[in-house]
Amino acid sequence: MKFSELGLNDELLKAIKRSGFEEATPIQEQTIPLALAGKDVIGQAQTGTGKTAAFALPILQNLDKHNKTIQALIIEPTRELAIQTQEELFRLGRDEKARVQVVYGGADIGRQIRSLKNHVPAILVGTPGRLLDHLKRKTINLEGVNTIVLDEADEMLDMGFIQDIESILSYVKNRSQTLLFSATMPKPILRISEKFMHDPEIVRIKTKELTADLIDQYYVRCKDAEKFNIMCRLIDVESPDLAVIFVRTKRRVDEVTRGLQARGYNAAGIHGDLSQARRISVLKRFRAGKLDILVATDVAARGLDISGVTHVYNYDIPQDPDSYVHRIGRTGRAGQNGSSITFVTPNELGYMRTIEQLTKKKMTPLRPPSDDQALRGQLKIAKTKIEDLMKEDLSKYTDDASELLENYSAIDLVSAFLKNLSKDSSDVEVTISSEKPLPYKGGNGGGRRNGGGRGRGHYGRGGGRGGNSRGGHGNYRGGDRNHGGHSSYRGGRSNRSGSGHDFVIKNKKD
Ligand SMILES: Nc1ncnc2c1ncn2[C@@H]1O[C@H](COP(=O)(O)OP(=O)(O)OP(=O)(O)O)[C@@H](O)[C@H]1O
Ligand SMILES: [Mg+2]
Repeated sequence: MKFSELGLNDELLKAIKRSGFEEATPIQEQTIPLALAGKDVIGQAQTGTGKTAAFALPILQNLDKHNKTIQALIIEPTRELAIQTQEELFRLGRDEKARVQVVYGGADIGRQIRSLKNHVPAILVGTPGRLLDHLKRKTINLEGVNTIVLDEADEMLDMGFIQDIESILSYVKNRSQTLLFSATMPKPILRISEKFMHDPEIVRIKTKELTADLIDQYYVRCKDAEKFNIMCRLIDVESPDLAVIFVRTKRRVDEVTRGLQARGYNAAGIHGDLSQARRISVLKRFRAGKLDILVATDVAARGLDISGVTHVYNYDIPQDPDSYVHRIGRTGRAGQNGSSITFVTPNELGYMRTIEQLTKKKMTPLRPPSDDQALRGQLKIAKTKIEDLMKEDLSKYTDDASELLENYSAIDLVSAFLKNLSKDSSDVEVTISSEKPLPYKGGNGGGRRNGGGRGRGHYGRGGGRGGNSRGGHGNYRGGDRNHGGHSSYRGGRSNRSGSGHDFVIKNKKD
């Protein structure tokens, strides 16, 4: 459906066009008219299907330009996601000069206070902890707020956040509209949400699977100690544009990142113990394609929209099946294809089955590539690089080249060059400390809803995540990105024809 049929004003239609959106996605088509009419809405749709614009557009349209108070509040579970959402609102509301601000932890509160004072925003985006901090200091006033959005609503209403949300809501006296959005909405959370809402319209975009349609999902069965080498070989063969690697603990983020760097990969890590400045800078580099691999805890599992992520590796299988849906949803967004590869140790097979029950999608077994196949992958990239180099002016090297050719055969010289370029570093020994494997408790979801905060201890909350759009990718593995082209080592490709895409976002210009 065209956006122009949804009742949006001309400024917004202009902004939509500028964003390159041709047609509204199903969640947008079904929720925008309801939200414009002031209804409470619970919107559930797969990852990467434009839920942000689904709440952003009606909020922007319903703003009263003459009202100088905060009129809409959007709560996000992490800092980076708060920043990203603020940026999308800003982009879409630019023609209407909508005032949007973001507050999140780990950043100078004094500066946030000054900026809120000088320029009361019409729309405020924030993380729960920092919002409460401002409320207690009376540096924000939510009495004029009409609309509240809980993005990633199931996370916001789960144990780790619910009290903060209740406290924040107690400051909002005149709330007339509540919007909840997420790709996952477990029943117990849905029941809690009704406590906060008035006769909500529940919009569920029906799909065969909970995970996004365009993600090929694989798993590799191996021992924990084998994961690192197998993953490196997979990366060599698959040559992702951008990849996100999810691990279970902060220590693992650091170790896996160091290991990848030692082997010559362009990787950096992000987790809750890093300074906010560092988190933002890592994500910014990743979005800009200056970093090829992001290693992360679940702090990066939800909501982040980074175009060009072709692969998600679950180095550690997530302990919460919903988290799997969100993690792999960092790829396969906005009509793009993606692959996810989940490592499963023998005693974690039960976890995998639980995930498959939730997603209603079976992961395809993947046979790890051999060292030789990995080297072939590296060499293919090296050869592409040589072809690129041959196009450049090489005249100042010819004398030295002739000298080398007098002493060595051309074959040996080119082989040495290839060895150097292909960064065959599998002999660089990397050991990742073992982490206790997850005990499988059986049953659905491993009891997460009452299981004590779903491993927040590991992931750290007070979270944050953020960033922006990207250009070219780091060129060290600029090679073949034809993901269909290396099926020889696969245990068979997933049968995508059976998954029945309900829609594909068309012609998004990035
Ligand atoms: N109608 C549209 N046509 C094309 N692209 C769109 C459209 N709406 C949104 N997008 C783009 O799709 C991408 C994903 O959108 P968004 O981040 O809102 O997804 P989401 O549904 O919130 O995903 P998640 O569940 O992971 O948070 C963004 O880059 C966004 O700009
Ligand atoms: Mg989202």
